[in-house]
Amino acid sequence: MSENKQKFNTSAVHAGEAPDATGSLHVPIYHNVSYSFKDSGHAERLFGLREFGNIYTRLMNPTVGALQQRLAVLEGGIGAVATASGHAAQLTALLNLLQAGDEIVAAKELYGGSINQFGHTFKQFGWNTVFRSVYDLEGIKSGITNKTKALFIESYSNPSGAIADIEGIANIAHEAGIPLVVDNTIPTASLLRPIEYGADIVLASLTKFLTGNSTTLGGIIIDSGRFDWTQNDKFSLLVEPDQSYHGISFANDFKELAFTVRSIAVGLRDLGAPLAPHSAFTTLTAIETLPLRIEKHIYNGAKVAEFLHKHPKVAEVYYPQYRKDTNQQTLQKKYFPNGVPSVFSVKLKGGIEAGEKLIQGVKLFSHVANIGDSRSLIIHPATTTHSQLSDQQKEESFSSPGIVRLSVGLEDADDLIADLDNVLQTV
Ligand SMILES: Cc1ncc(COP(=O)(O)O)c(C=O)c1O
Repeated sequence: MSENKQKFNTSAVHAGEAPDATGSLHVPIYHNVSYSFKDSGHAERLFGLREFGNIYTRLMNPTVGALQQRLAVLEGGIGAVATASGHAAQLTALLNLLQAGDEIVAAKELYGGSINQFGHTFKQFGWNTVFRSVYDLEGIKSGITNKTKALFIESYSNPSGAIADIEGIANIAHEAGIPLVVDNTIPTASLLRPIEYGADIVLASLTKFLTGNSTTLGGIIIDSGRFDWTQNDKFSLLVEPDQSYHGISFANDFKELAFTVRSIAVGLRDLGAPLAPHSAFTTLTAIETLPLRIEKHIYNGAKVAEFLHKHPKVAEVYYPQYRKDTNQQTLQKKYFPNGVPSVFSVKLKGGIEAGEKLIQGVKLFSHVANIGDSRSLIIHPATTTHSQLSDQQKEESFSSPGIVRLSVGLEDADDLIADLDNVLQTV
């Protein structure tokens, strides 16, 4: 369980630390898989969830545990579960909520890989997704049926940079008696803490800004501990006796930690996608500098967005303050008072040909399928990250052919601008 007494920068460096027998200043990498039990009673209690402790690294590991603790504190949750990737976090979290035949209402503006995961692969489990625009709160509301078990949005969409009205959407979810699950990958807790606006579960890919250098793949599930799973009969997986644990009820036996405990005891146990201890170590180390890195990303992102906004070859910059949709500016003031993330998209007047030329021509922006790196990155979503989507889905998720996505890194903003300008002059 997390404690949240210290301020953000302090927690980013220290939360989750625990004294180690060796005196190691940093959380060590526990690369072992199994743990010795004190006696057979101890083993039985651990396996029966009557006592918490280390059993096997697919379920828990001290290095991973320290990261979980740190992220729970930073996001303002009461517990967290780390997974092998951001996608694994989505699957593991939803396994607590949905059974075959159930539904989820998700934003149309999700990352393309998530649209695929929800729209195609989850169908194999009988989980059906109703996609609604994150801008259309009425549409989200009307998408809810008595089979809907959750609303799912990104706090700041990849690649469109759409800012979600988390509070408004949380109210819709709560009126329907279902939780709001928010993917907070792009802002990170350093810029936005969705739980403060009513989110019940927060997810993130660790692979982006949290590790910040494209060296680690991982995901995290953070539980606010606030959703009452017993308020209606929708959440039998968390409330009804679980036959794979001798009939325990997660909600009755673990109270506000029900979601966290089931994510480990059933999700990690049976889906089998935990975070590797070494990945937990690299992420813990990276988070120590997260607030500093994010400050610089914000500064550079704003400079590059301003340059592009004024450039005659650019049709539109999908950066909140330059959006034609003024509601986005209102949402920016509420949710991002300290600045917006440095991931956004640009539409060039020369369309797809100009976009390709830009991607091929720039020297400092690397052409890769990732975001949130210390290096600046560039990609053409329509032919890569969002390529499996239909033309309509591409349009709706701001990944139509004329759009280029930037992830502005930590280099000097002037160098990045000069690099873009050099190529833009030729398109
Ligand atoms: C917003 C968002 N959520 C989730 C994911 C999935 O994360 P991962 O690649 O770690 O599985 C991504 C990946 O790009 C993403 O951009």
